[in-house]
Amino acid sequence: MEVLIDSDWASGSLVDDVRRGLGSHPRRLPPKWLYDDEGSRLFDEITRLPEYYPTEAERRILLDHAADVVATCDATTVVELGSGTSDKTRTLLDAFAAAGRLRRFVPVDVSEQTLRDAAQMLGERYPGLAVEALVGDFTLHLSHLPANEPGAHRLVAFLGGTIGNLYVEERGAFLGALADSLDPGDWLLLGTDLVKPVDRLVAAYHDSAGVTDRFVRNSLAVLNRELGADFDLDAFSYVPFWDGHMERMDLRLRAEAEQHVTVPGAGIELDLAVGEEIHVEISTKFRPDGIRAELAAAGFETVELFTDPGDDFGLTLARLG
Ligand code: SAH
Ligand code: TRP
Repeated sequence: MEVLIDSDWASGSLVDDVRRGLGSHPRRLPPKWLYDDEGSRLFDEITRLPEYYPTEAERRILLDHAADVVATCDATTVVELGSGTSDKTRTLLDAFAAAGRLRRFVPVDVSEQTLRDAAQMLGERYPGLAVEALVGDFTLHLSHLPANEPGAHRLVAFLGGTIGNLYVEERGAFLGALADSLDPGDWLLLGTDLVKPVDRLVAAYHDSAGVTDRFVRNSLAVLNRELGADFDLDAFSYVPFWDGHMERMDLRLRAEAEQHVTVPGAGIELDLAVGEEIHVEISTKFRPDGIRAELAAAGFETVELFTDPGDDFGLTLARLG
């Protein structure tokens, strides 16, 4: 395995993000800070919760259609953004391996340990495959993706609905930067959660075992540990709600008591009033026409949009024109 960017970039970026996000109104935390070792472990637990349908729905689509993806696109390199454990991705890699075409797999994630573990697992499972893991931020480091082999193409997989965790303007910028970093004829396989009745959406982000609550709250533990902050985690309640206008889940932490918080590593102090909220994460839900239009605006032509039998989740195969 190859680590193309050292993870030291992370600390400087955390300080900037925290100064900018927590110092402004509404107070906001950028989501990549949810995924320290504990956050990655909690996310993995989320994917196995009965209420959290997206993982199984996307896995179903991959099981049913990975062979179609491989038959349609001529890639010899698969890049995976926000790869995490690359668990579902194995279905796709199996299909490529069966076709005998895949030479290189490039998983990209901010969570270094999760990435190392996944890269090792994949290296053992696919002996002939070059696994070039890249520790980095997919909103900042796309220019570090390895170039195409002469005459060959890449497929970029971005699964799990992670694109929905970006705000709409960030999403446009991300897709534009992705298109800039790719060559015409390269492919994108994009997983998006779809709009559905609100009760199922809320249940998926407010599970009865309280795992999602712990996952979101862990973001403050990251600030306490990394920046010496003194957030009292128990003084917040977890507030997930459906924003029907923006069609997204909005996940926040609300101060239940007045708090003075110091964040020495970022040189800031906060006075939180009772009821004041920190915006931790959004999870946008999509409609097929919207997906096609956003992709087209960035230069990607939708070739197929696969869904699971329940139409819960969409997996779009698109080609850069
Ligand atoms: N693809 C997996 C994991 C999704 S969770 C799945 O479908 O289940 C989101 C993953 O993206 C986590 O592993 C997290 O560490 C990573 N991540 C979040 N923000 C990121 C960013 N800005 N750059 C790179 N990786 C990021
Ligand atoms: N990409 C996942 C999603 O939007 C991330 C996620 C799952 C998440 N559960 C969460 C993010 C809870 C914040 C809080 O579904």
